[in-house]
Amino acid sequence: MTVLVTGGAGYIGSHTLVELLEAGRDVVVLDNFCNSTPESLRRVEAITGKSLTLVEGDIRDRPLVETTLRKHKIASVIHFAGLKAVGASGTDPLEYYNINVVGSERLFSAMKACEIFNLVFSSSATVYGEAEYLPFDEDHPLRVTNPYGRTKLMIEDMLRDLQKSDQRWRIATLRYFNPVGAHPSGMIGEDPRGEPSNLMPFVSDVAMGRRDQLVIHGDDYDTPDGTGIRDFIHVVDLARGHLNALDGLVQHGSFAVNLGTGQGNSVMEMVSMFERVSNRKIARQIGPRRPGDIAVSYAATHKALAILGWQAQLGLYEMCRDQWNWVSKNPEGFGNVVELEQGMLPGMETPQDAASQRQWGRRERDWA
Ligand code: NAD
Ligand code: WQD
Repeated sequence: MTVLVTGGAGYIGSHTLVELLEAGRDVVVLDNFCNSTPESLRRVEAITGKSLTLVEGDIRDRPLVETTLRKHKIASVIHFAGLKAVGASGTDPLEYYNINVVGSERLFSAMKACEIFNLVFSSSATVYGEAEYLPFDEDHPLRVTNPYGRTKLMIEDMLRDLQKSDQRWRIATLRYFNPVGAHPSGMIGEDPRGEPSNLMPFVSDVAMGRRDQLVIHGDDYDTPDGTGIRDFIHVVDLARGHLNALDGLVQHGSFAVNLGTGQGNSVMEMVSMFERVSNRKIARQIGPRRPGDIAVSYAATHKALAILGWQAQLGLYEMCRDQWNWVSKNPEGFGNVVELEQGMLPGMETPQDAASQRQWGRRERDWA
């Protein structure tokens, strides 16, 4: 029962691989490393003492995806691969539509051709947009405010249509709230390229002395301390949810569920907790509200509990503690990407399809 994990080298993917391997699943990763490095996969293997198979390539490379599905007798797919920066999606929307929407369509078409109908898809709470009521339950109207969010909603719509067209599809649509933290080993974590736009990586950078100060985007919201409130969820809890979702497909067929804690914490609460666990002062100033931000977001969690038997177990303390453990042990993240990539090309298989390899920069490796 091998699972194909697209985007498995990324932040959430790598943590999910740990859970899958520890649960004894066989795993194939398809990733083009456009926002990650193979080092995260090495670390996953080191944490678990288990090996995985890597296919380096692009989800848009339909022949490669189909070959991978058949060659490795894939039973289910967990689909993380895509771009996720809200701001960048506004400056280069076509790139987002291409990679996220076209890429997903190619993947689903390849799955259909191979008669593989079990899918877990990474959606986002961003599909709810501005809150009509709180907490966000899965029946909340869906309306998006930026191109990134639109790609997620388009993929969700594509999946709803697909499921209606053929009852053999079993699709888990997981709407993540705000994933933060790192594996408690301190060996894997989020390693953003360039200036982070999300709160926790930015706070970590300030604690590490890499940036002078955090700008808090507004303290005049209608919240107890005036700063925005989010449902931060430990990435290990989130990763566990994917295992439950795979099992849930068998029992329940298709569903959309929130993965959040159900608990809102403010930006200031996050900063204070980070100061406590790191024993460092986080310099900050109050700036204006960030365009597009909503004041408060947190999840209704009863559906995840009912369908998946899953609920988050870790709180803000563990999120900040494990993030600090990761960044303080790995001040360079996974290290210099170029050096790592050059040094990590053992056992490359000769590609069968040279034209396709040129088009996508594909390299298939005998990972073991
Ligand atoms: P990430 O960027 O760390 O991981 C994505 C992975 O996909 C990377 O390893 C990247 O190299 C790979 N990838 C991108 N395009 C690819 C392509 N065309 N072909 C093959 N591989 C490709 O992101 P993440 O935080 O781990 O997010 C994973 C998924 O979860 C994404 O779909 C994201 O939209 C979704 N999501 C993330 C968050 C969050 O805050 N991190 C919240 C909600 C939803
Ligand atoms: C959290 C809070 C900011 C940075 C985004 C995406 C969403 C999902 C998760 C993918 C807000 C405040 C932040 C900073 C700050 N991703 N903040 N100073 O915006 O809730 O969600 O990531 O699907 O789609 O929109 O997360 O971490 O950017 O912000 O004050 O330097 O922290 O204003 O209140 P967000 P975030």
